[in-house]
Amino acid sequence: MGQWFETVSEAQRRAKKRLPSSVYSALLAGSERGVSYDDNTRAFGELGLAPHVAGLSAKRDLATSVLGQEISMPVVISPTGVQAVHPDGEVAVARAAAARGTAMGLSSFASKPLSDVVAANPQTFFQTYWMGDRDSMLRRMDRAREAGAVGLIATLDWSFSHGRDWGSPKIPEKLDVKAMARFAPEVLRRPRWLADFARSGRLPDLTTPNLAEPGSQAPTFFGAYGEWMMTPPPTWEDVAWLREEWGGPFMLKGICRVDDAHRARDAGVTAISVSNHGGNNLDSTPAPIRVLPSIASAVGDDVEVLLDSGIRRGSDVVKAVALGARAVMIGRAYLWGLAAGGQPGVENVLDILRGGIDSALLGLGHSSIHDLTPDDVVVPDGFTRTLGVARS
Ligand SMILES: Cc1cc2nc3c(=O)[nH]c(=O)nc-3n(C[C@H](O)[C@H](O)[C@H](O)COP(=O)(O)O)c2cc1C
Repeated sequence: MGQWFETVSEAQRRAKKRLPSSVYSALLAGSERGVSYDDNTRAFGELGLAPHVAGLSAKRDLATSVLGQEISMPVVISPTGVQAVHPDGEVAVARAAAARGTAMGLSSFASKPLSDVVAANPQTFFQTYWMGDRDSMLRRMDRAREAGAVGLIATLDWSFSHGRDWGSPKIPEKLDVKAMARFAPEVLRRPRWLADFARSGRLPDLTTPNLAEPGSQAPTFFGAYGEWMMTPPPTWEDVAWLREEWGGPFMLKGICRVDDAHRARDAGVTAISVSNHGGNNLDSTPAPIRVLPSIASAVGDDVEVLLDSGIRRGSDVVKAVALGARAVMIGRAYLWGLAAGGQPGVENVLDILRGGIDSALLGLGHSSIHDLTPDDVVVPDGFTRTLGVARS
């Protein structure tokens, strides 16, 4: 396994070195011109911090809770369709999250069954899209409940835009011999990635076990994707129905506007994640950190407000919490850690974030993440955006 690394950027460099270029490029993702992808990280860099030098706290408390789960710091694993990064995939991520005391979001497009992931981390939320008919959604929710999911994340921000100016990776429907032959040149340049899979005795199979109907085979990634594309998008009544049928803790992921945040609250959600899907969805959507203050002040007393998209360091987490988030979710940061070093690589990333949150709290003179306020952050003029509020 790889050596300890000190930043998420280093994890990214190692992921790039280790993964076949198509797999790395699938992780990098982004859409269209990459405006949102770039803004997600740049925006955090525009925010300043206002440190003290004496009277600092010797001990800092990072613990909080999300969707009813006690977690050791305000960082949760965001669901991603990992596929082919590492043979242990989401199970390795779940173990790392459990080892570091935090919760795991499992994508419905994940490569591992939910029950295996729950066995590795009982604090697992299952993520679903609005796909298939209502009966199949009910069956999927039943299976998720039976497998032990402690919360449901409904992700609705997806508009099926697939072009990237820098080119999309060509991902095969199935990694059969023909596909392997086509990928051989790039895979052979990444012998350590191949060796990891060879040791595990199987190749990435690119199926989605959590979308299998009882008694039938797991659909391929693209088969499931096709079904999702064909499903008419949900109404707010559908959202309320989904929440009602789930019955337990429920997060709506992908909120960018104040009016949508109000509607989500009215639909009865427990939590929202202010998110632009890591810049993979509708390009030119502002960085979520820019819209967080308006959304947190609109609904922060009624629902748990999380943020994801662009978190690369502990101080990013602190900035988000200071501006109204209860916690953040991370995507690429842990995927790069997974690629760089499996479970220890993800633990390494979580440790980097914990260390960064702790030092920012120390510098800001706080003994708890719950003491952070907007006064800790320097927000430059013109930084924030408020979407979905009628202007008079
Ligand atoms: C490769 C990749 C796959 C993703 N797959 C999913 C998914 O299946 N379901 C989902 O809700 N979000 C998915 N996301 C979005 C993440 O949950 C999260 O919103 C995003 O990665 C956060 O931005 P960050 O990567 O800058 O942390 C994916 C993101 C990436 C990078």
